[in-house]
Amino acid sequence: MPHPTVSIADLSRHLDQTVSLQGWVEALRSSGKVAFLLLRDGTGSCQCVIEARTEPAFTAVAGLHQEGSLRLTGRARPDDRAPGGVEIAVETIEVVQSAEGYPIARKAHGVDFLLQHRHLWLRSARQTAIARIRHTVISAIRGYFDDLGFTLVDTPILAPGAAEGAGTLFTVDYFGEPVYLAQTGQLYLEAAAQALGKVYCFGPTFRAEKSKTRRHLAEFWMVEPEVAWADLPDLEALAEGLICRVVERVLGGHRADLDRLGRDPAPLEAIRAPFPRVTYTEAVEILRSPETRATLEAEQARDLAAVEALRKEIAGLDSQLGQATKAWKQEKLGQEIQAAQERLRELEMAVENRPGHMEDAAAFAWGRDLGGDEETILSRRFDRPLVITRYPKAAKAFYMKSDPENPRVALNLDILAPEGYGEIVGGSVREDDLAALEARMAEEGMDPAPYQWYLDLRRYGSVPHGGFGLGVERTVAWICGLRHIRETIAFPRFMGRLYP
Ligand code: 4AD
Ligand code: MG
Repeated sequence: MPHPTVSIADLSRHLDQTVSLQGWVEALRSSGKVAFLLLRDGTGSCQCVIEARTEPAFTAVAGLHQEGSLRLTGRARPDDRAPGGVEIAVETIEVVQSAEGYPIARKAHGVDFLLQHRHLWLRSARQTAIARIRHTVISAIRGYFDDLGFTLVDTPILAPGAAEGAGTLFTVDYFGEPVYLAQTGQLYLEAAAQALGKVYCFGPTFRAEKSKTRRHLAEFWMVEPEVAWADLPDLEALAEGLICRVVERVLGGHRADLDRLGRDPAPLEAIRAPFPRVTYTEAVEILRSPETRATLEAEQARDLAAVEALRKEIAGLDSQLGQATKAWKQEKLGQEIQAAQERLRELEMAVENRPGHMEDAAAFAWGRDLGGDEETILSRRFDRPLVITRYPKAAKAFYMKSDPENPRVALNLDILAPEGYGEIVGGSVREDDLAALEARMAEEGMDPAPYQWYLDLRRYGSVPHGGFGLGVERTVAWICGLRHIRETIAFPRFMGRLYP
């Protein structure tokens, strides 16, 4: 009778049994007497031991390379030193494909090389940890809205017009007509909210962002709830609850993944309602304040000291490398030097840019939208997500309702993730008055013809309503503590990248 094929995650339930495993070679080392194969199957990794006397398995394993695929059978035995507490004493091996010359070696590679090999890079321990956390973020989002009685409504990807500014539209040929890839599902969702009350859409959205920043993708996933009868405090509470739920689920199920990413969980454990709330006008005061200047000066002093320390460290590693004779030692030192140089470059850039940021913050003019640099400064000042409301109307989208108490500002909210991550949520109460909306569209120079259906929502049973969008990739980048958003999605799309 064949042995049961089990997954590595379930191995501890099969102690002292002979089982079959199937997977890929994560690492392989061999002395003349014994070979150690680290097998990865997508559910985990497991050490498999092949003794020289176990033939033909011992000969077979010599034909395998990193990422080679195989099936094996062996006895699962407890071993305190093995990851997962179980190791396999191998009896037979069937090589499926040997994977000679796998391009991603275990040494350090530059990020361009890795992005070019993204289809293979996805297999690394770091990338699979991110993928699992992303999965949980998405399922937590769905669970949150489903539990609250929201109905999922799918909105079109092919859209006839702009909703978030004409500057970031991708054009597509639609039977000879130019149409656009959706920047948001919001306008359609407003129609659905008048039918169903509480709705959300969750899909890919597209922005032709002509800049390469660590926060922008050209294709990203966004969840957007839309709620009939909601006012601004309702939206703030809804978004706050969502973020808390997502963080709680990741902390609840992904300690090992966070650890693999080198992510300190402490800042995530501090994420609890209520979040601090400021108005845009108060945020501008914070930017211009002496406290912000002092914080930035302290950051500058800290980074300058870190630059000094890193330069010394690199010099030390360099001289060790000059004396190293063993190949493995040279490789290890080479990796350490490359990692230190990458950190050094980042720090040097931060040091170079900071004086400019300090000046810009001190002179920030009321009326401008908050940019990435301002968001970084603000979100470093708080240890929880920061809710900023009531931005200048003129800086924001046409559909936002003005504050009846101060028509210069919109009834909107942005939420900035802490630790410098910046905006993860943007939303607002919508203009529900037909005349006011038409006037605003005229001011913006928008042709009302393609928006007649949207204006109908104000003609027939218009009610106060609002919603927001939360970007999945920015949320995952923050939770995972990643420098750059590009690792949060399997196949990122941003300016200059379409392969693979
Ligand atoms: O603030 P945004 O542009 O808002 C909207 O699209 C509204 N229609 C949402 C709504 O009210 N229903 O985008 C919302 C969120 C941002 O806070 C950010 O998390 C993410 O979407 N986002 C991006 N993520 C990655 N790359 C980009 N280029 C992004 N642009 C926005
Ligand atoms: Mg926004």
